[in-house]
Order: sequence, then structure tokens, then C-alpha cells
Amino acid sequence: MAHTIQSRKTATSLLSSVLLAFALIFSSSSFAVDAALVAEGKTLFKANCASCHNPLQNATGPALKGVTARWEAGGAYQGKSGKEWLVEWVKNWNTPVNAKYPYAVEISNWAPSQMNLFTTLKNEDIEKILLYVDNSESAKLAATATTTATAGAEAPKEDSNIILYLFILLLVVLAAILVSVTNKLDKVVDESKGLASEAKVPFWKTVKFKVAVLLITLVCVGFYLADNAIRLGRQQGYQPTQPIRYNHALHAGTHKIDCQYCHTSASKGKAAGIPSLNTCMNCHKNVQKGPEYGTEEIAKLYDAVGWDLATQKYVRPAKPVEWVRIHNLPDHVYFNHSQHVVAGKVACQTCHGPIQEMKEVYQFAPLSMGWCVNCHRQTEVQFAGNNYYSTYEKLHEQLKNKTIDKVTVEKIGGTECAKCHY
Ligand code: HEC
Ligand code: HEC
Ligand code: HEC
Ligand code: HEC
Ligand code: HEC
Ligand code: HEC
Repeated sequence: MAHTIQSRKTATSLLSSVLLAFALIFSSSSFAVDAALVAEGKTLFKANCASCHNPLQNATGPALKGVTARWEAGGAYQGKSGKEWLVEWVKNWNTPVNAKYPYAVEISNWAPSQMNLFTTLKNEDIEKILLYVDNSESAKLAATATTTATAGAEAPKEDSNIILYLFILLLVVLAAILVSVTNKLDKVVDESKGLASEAKVPFWKTVKFKVAVLLITLVCVGFYLADNAIRLGRQQGYQPTQPIRYNHALHAGTHKIDCQYCHTSASKGKAAGIPSLNTCMNCHKNVQKGPEYGTEEIAKLYDAVGWDLATQKYVRPAKPVEWVRIHNLPDHVYFNHSQHVVAGKVACQTCHGPIQEMKEVYQFAPLSMGWCVNCHRQTEVQFAGNNYYSTYEKLHEQLKNKTIDKVTVEKIGGTECAKCHY
């Protein structure tokens, strides 16, 4: 009798430690991954899908929340799962329709209009978008997801972690119950051995339980603080309202004005620069009305530069317009535009996203250290015919001998701390 209780006791206490450990691991790892992926998914969604889709409401296309479950319910077909067909759909909706996947054929008749093709979108990015739409909850979030979003100084917080918190709470409660059961069994064992029962101590007063609670609290608080400290300076998705409703989609998109017409120093120096209002006046002495705001917003420009429309003269000294800065690296990081735009031949859009489609600019990339370093590890420098790299004789030789087949930014020192940190 005593023996079986003893071994059962060991089993329960083992189980409770496993549960505790599980709760700990779960709480520290998957939060970060989830939130980061969801945030990336949101950015991708805004850039590619929000013109037609809202996660929570039907728009030009259907509401997308729960879409993964809908396709999974569509079932496997021709050796591909519903989820795999869904990814195919997003890339090119014709693929599942032509294969006559029943769910796809049905949904393709949802609207008279058709979805765009996203053949260059990577599978992992599609996964992130799907993760985001399935996790979007609040009405606030739905409102900002539409492209007509107006103000929105700060991106709303995701509340999809609630379920995770509840799950962890459940695990902790379970562990507590198990600890109490173990204690009870302890007593039975003691009694069966004929030992005097110790004074009754409720389980929540036991040292074991207190230590467990302390540990869990410490890990959770520590994780929360560290995570927020790291993100403190970051603001991916940041989209402030500007003093003049200058519109990139209209200027750089519709009217195809070159980025560097305004951001002239991007190819010359460290900063890309925001154009002076004189640059605007090159055109706006003549262009006095816009398609969306009429004369209202352009009047603000005239007011700022002191331009009098009636006499076509500058009548007052100019006052600066206080554009709200969106991209901002911490002071300890060195970043140089011309190095990337001229020597590296990296397109503005690789780092800033589809600016030519943004009515209001938002921060597309995380601007984290991992983001910089990952690109440096993956991106090949364009050695051929680029004077900038003539000093790297050894690498040129190795390329010629074919001992190496490509040179990444990492190879020329792009991951050395001192290159990016003062
Ligand atoms: C030009 C508008 C447009 C854009 C942009 C667009 N979609 Fe769609 N989407 C549609 C329409 C319309 C449908 C409904 C199918 C139909 O009628 O052809 C649809 C259907 C879908 C479906 C199937 C919905 C369901 O209930 O099963 C998914 C999934 C989807 N879109 C995902 C995306 C994703 C992800 C993006 C961004 C990468 C995107 N769409 C961008 C218009 C668009
Ligand atoms: C006609 C002038 C003009 C053109 C052309 C133009 N921009 Fe801008 N850009 C501005 C002004 C003004 C601002 C500041 C207001 C704002 O953020 O919308 C700005 C802001 C930005 C910002 C955000 C800066 C910050 O605060 O972090 C980025 C990034 C940017 N532009 C990139 C581009 C890219 C890429 C292109 C080409 C596709 C482009 N711009 C074309 C005038 C222009
Ligand atoms: C190369 C010429 C050019 C430059 C430079 C230029 N714009 Fe424009 N702007 C246009 C054109 C063209 C329109 C649209 C007129 C139309 O479509 O009716 C426009 C429209 C606008 C509108 C009205 C938008 C609307 O939807 O009603 C505003 C505001 C504006 N520009 C602000 C600026 C500011 C601020 C700058 C300087 C940072 C600037 N523009 C620089 C050509 C230019
Ligand atoms: C390799 C990534 C990368 C590329 C390519 C890139 N940018 Fe940037 N851009 C950044 C980063 C990072 C910042 C923030 C810089 C800071 O805070 O010091 C930034 C900031 C800006 C700003 C804000 C003002 C300033 O000068 O810092 C503008 C405007 C801008 N970029 C425009 C452009 C344009 C236009 C191009 C293309 C000609 C371009 N960028 C190409 C990464 C990039
Ligand atoms: C989209 C890819 C990409 C991203 C993102 C990127 N870089 Fe780069 N970077 C390059 C390329 C390509 C070069 C090579 C050009 C050259 O030789 O200077 C380069 C070169 C550099 C160099 C010079 C390295 C050397 O050894 O000469 C520095 C410093 C640098 N990047 C800093 C940064 C910082 C800081 C960030 C993040 C804020 C960043 N980069 C983000 C592509 C990228
Ligand atoms: C390619 C550019 C690049 C290189 C190389 C690089 N860093 Fe960073 N580092 C950054 C950027 C960008 C940030 C700002 C990240 C942010 O604001 O989230 C940063 C931030 C940091 C921070 C502050 C903590 C944080 O996450 O904000 C520390 C510490 C740091 N780097 C150390 C290093 C060390 C040590 C090395 C060498 C092993 C190194 N960095 C190499 C770009 C770089």
C-alpha cells in the first residue's frame, strides 16, 4: 500500500513539474514569435491586401478572418491540403480554380471582380498574413486595416495573446492542484508508515508552492520588461498624420515623380532628406488644386511659403512645415543612404515598402538590428564594374579563381559591430 502511494506520489509530483516547466517555456518563447509574426503579417496585409480586404468585414473581397479554417474544411484534393491550396490561391487564384478545387471554384464567384495576382509573394509571407487576419480582433484594428485609414497615430495593440495567457493560467492552476494532491498523498504515506501527521499546512502555504509562484512571476515579468525594452525605440507600422496631406501615391505613383527629385541627398550622403518647400513650389505655382482636397491642402503650402496666389508673388517670409519624422534609428547606429542606394544598388522600396502606393507613409521595416544583419548575410554585393569595391583585391581574386561564387555584404565586413555602431 505505502509503496504504490509512494510511486503514485512521485508520478504526480513529476507531472506537476513537467506542467510548470511547460508553462514557463510556453510563456517565454511563443509570445515573442507570435506577436512579431502577427505584426509582420499586418504590415504585409496593409501593403498588399487592405485595398480590397478587411479581416473582419466583407469589402471588395470577403472578410478574411477564419479563412484558413474555411479552406482546411474544403479538404485535401489532388495530394494537396486545403491550406496548401489556400496559399496557391493567394499567389494566383487561377491555379486552384483551373485545377477545379471545389471550394476555390465556389469562392471565385463571390464577387464579379477578381483578385490581383501575388506570384512574387513568398509562402512564409502569406503564412504571416494568414496568421494576422486570423488573429485580428478589435473593431479598431479592422478600421485601421482599411487603406482609407485617416489619422491613427499609433498602431493598435493586438489582443490575440489573451488565449495564451488564459492557457498559461490554466497550467498554473493545474500545477497548484497537483502540488496539493502530492501533499495529501505525503500525509497518507506518513500515516501509513505510522508516523505522526505534521501540522496541517494548506498547499498554498507550502514552500514548494511559493517558490513556484515566485519563479513564474519572475519569468513572466522579466520577459515582459525585456521584450518591451527592446521594442521601445521601434515603431514598425508607425503612420503619423502630417501637417500638409502630402500624398506619395499621387506624386510618386500616379504622376511618377522620381523619389530622388525630392529626396535628393539619398544618393549623395547619409540622409535621404525631406525636400524644402521650394521644391514643391516648382510645380505648385501652377498646380493649385488637387483631386482629393481641392485647394485646401495646397493653400497650407502657400501659407507656409508666404505665396500670394492673387499677385503670384512671395509676400511673407517662409515658415518651416513641421513634418513628423517616421523612420528613426537610435543615435548609436550609423546608417548611410548613399552606401545602400548607390554602392549597394538597393531599391528604396526594399527598405521602405511600396511608398508609391502609400497615401500616407508608414514605417514598413522593423529597423531592428536583426533586420540589418539578416540582409547583410543574404545580399550579394554587386562587385562587377563597381569602383567602390576595387580595394577588395583578395575577394576579386577568389571570385576569378572560382574559390568563391559570390560576395555577400557580410564578407566585406557588413556584420562587424563597429561598421554600424559609433
Ligand atoms: C484587387 C482586389 C483584391 C486584392 C488586392 C486582394 N484580394 Fe483577395 N479577394 C478579392 C476578391 C474579389 C475575392 C473573392 C473571390 C472572387 O470573387 O474572385 C478575394 C478572395 C480572397 C480569398 C478567399 C476568401 C475566402 O473566403 O475563402 C483569400 C484567402 C484572399 N482573397 C486573400 C488575399 C490576400 C492574402 C491578399 C493580399 C496578398 C488579397 N487577397 C488581395 C480581391 C482582392
Ligand atoms: C514631390 C516630392 C516627393 C517625392 C517625389 C517623394 N517623396 Fe518621399 N517624402 C516627401 C515629403 C514632403 C515627405 C515628408 C512627409 C511625409 O512623410 O509624407 C516624405 C517622406 C518620405 C518618407 C518618410 C520619411 C520619414 O519621416 O521617415 C519616406 C521613406 C519617403 N518619403 C520615401 C520616398 C520614396 C521611396 C519615394 C519614391 C517612390 C518618394 N519618397 C517620393 C516628398 C516626396
Ligand atoms: C513635379 C511636380 C510636383 C511637385 C514637385 C510637387 N507636387 Fe504636389 N501635386 C502635383 C500634381 C500634378 C498634383 C495633382 C494635381 C491633380 O491631379 O489634379 C499635386 C497635388 C498635390 C496636393 C493635393 C492632393 C489632393 O489629393 O488634393 C497636395 C496637398 C500637394 N500636391 C502637396 C505637395 C507638396 C507638399 C509638395 C512638396 C513636398 C509637392 N506637392 C510637390 C505635382 C507636384
Ligand atoms: C537599406 C535600406 C534603405 C534603403 C535602400 C533606403 N532607405 Fe531610406 N531609410 C532607411 C533607414 C534605416 C532610415 C532611418 C535612418 C535614420 O534614422 O538615421 C531611412 C530614412 C529615410 C528617410 C527619412 C529622412 C532621412 O533622410 O533619414 C527618407 C526620406 C528616406 N529614408 C527615403 C529613402 C529613399 C527616397 C530611398 C531610395 C532612393 C531610400 N530611402 C532607400 C533605410 C533605407
Ligand atoms: C535590403 C538589404 C539591406 C538592409 C535592410 C540593410 N543593408 Fe546595409 N548594406 C546592404 C548592402 C547591399 C551593402 C553593400 C554596399 C556597400 O558595400 O557599402 C550594405 C552595406 C552597409 C554598410 C557598409 C558595410 C561595409 O563593410 O562597408 C553599413 C555600415 C550598413 N550597410 C549598415 C546598415 C544598417 C545600420 C542597416 C539597418 C538599419 C542596414 N545596413 C540595412 C544592404 C542592406
Ligand atoms: C548591420 C548593422 C549592425 C551591425 C553589424 C551590428 N548592429 Fe547592433 N544594432 C543595429 C541597429 C539598427 C540597432 C538598433 C535596434 C533597435 O532600435 O531595435 C542595434 C542595436 C544594438 C544594441 C542595443 C540593443 C537593442 O537591441 O536595441 C546593442 C547592444 C548592439 N546593437 C550591439 C551590437 C554588437 C555587439 C554587434 C557586433 C556583434 C552589433 N551590434 C552589430 C545595427 C547593427
